[in-house]
Amino acid sequence: MNDCSKLFMNEAVHLIGMSGSLRKGSFNTFLLYALQELLPENVTMGIVSIADQPLYNADLDLPAAKERPAIIQQFRDVLSTADGFVFVSPEYNYGIPGGLKNAIDWASRGEDSPLVNKPVVVMGATPGKWGTIRMQMAFLPVFTFLNMKPVLKPEILIAQAKNKFDETGRLIDDKAKDLIRQKLEALKHLILMEREGKLQTFNKN
Ligand code: FNR
Repeated sequence: MNDCSKLFMNEAVHLIGMSGSLRKGSFNTFLLYALQELLPENVTMGIVSIADQPLYNADLDLPAAKERPAIIQQFRDVLSTADGFVFVSPEYNYGIPGGLKNAIDWASRGEDSPLVNKPVVVMGATPGKWGTIRMQMAFLPVFTFLNMKPVLKPEILIAQAKNKFDETGRLIDDKAKDLIRQKLEALKHLILMEREGKLQTFNKN
């Protein structure tokens, strides 16, 4: 890393995180909130709810509609403040929960899509044994279509979640915390490297 890159590593980075589970007592929502204590230096994360969004309907999306539903426009506006995204989700029937996929679809269209080209990480928790791996794999085609930049390693697969959170919902697994720190550090690094690359291209032109 040259001196210029070191300077970039002190720059502020803002993430937006969302949980794919709406239920009270969700392990994934607990996990999302646990990330606030594991963020790298100079990184902040806003949390956005997808709970009240209507089902995706292209007739209500631009350009077919004059305006998007207000709740969707607000959602997109919040997402557009992010340098990168954190999806924390259960696996439903070996896939991405419908509510989360629906939210992604609402944010995916148009030249002003807040998701396109952005760095992203996925994490998941399950009381089962396989740690949401199939849900995480199901994201790969979505990221490909949207040209998002997933940080793939380390994988954050919180299996047997009942043993990894205490009764108040605090993450109590040190190994998981360590991997999450590494993952978020890698996300920050990718965001800053992309930012630096863009600036260098800009300076050349
Ligand atoms: C599940 N669950 C589940 N678990 C898993 O490991 N693989 C799966 O494919 C599924 N499929 C599935 C479908 C549906 C509709 C539900 C409701 C549940 C179990 C799931 O991991 C468990 O309910 C988690 O506790 C859900 O995450 P939250 O709500 O705790 O964040």
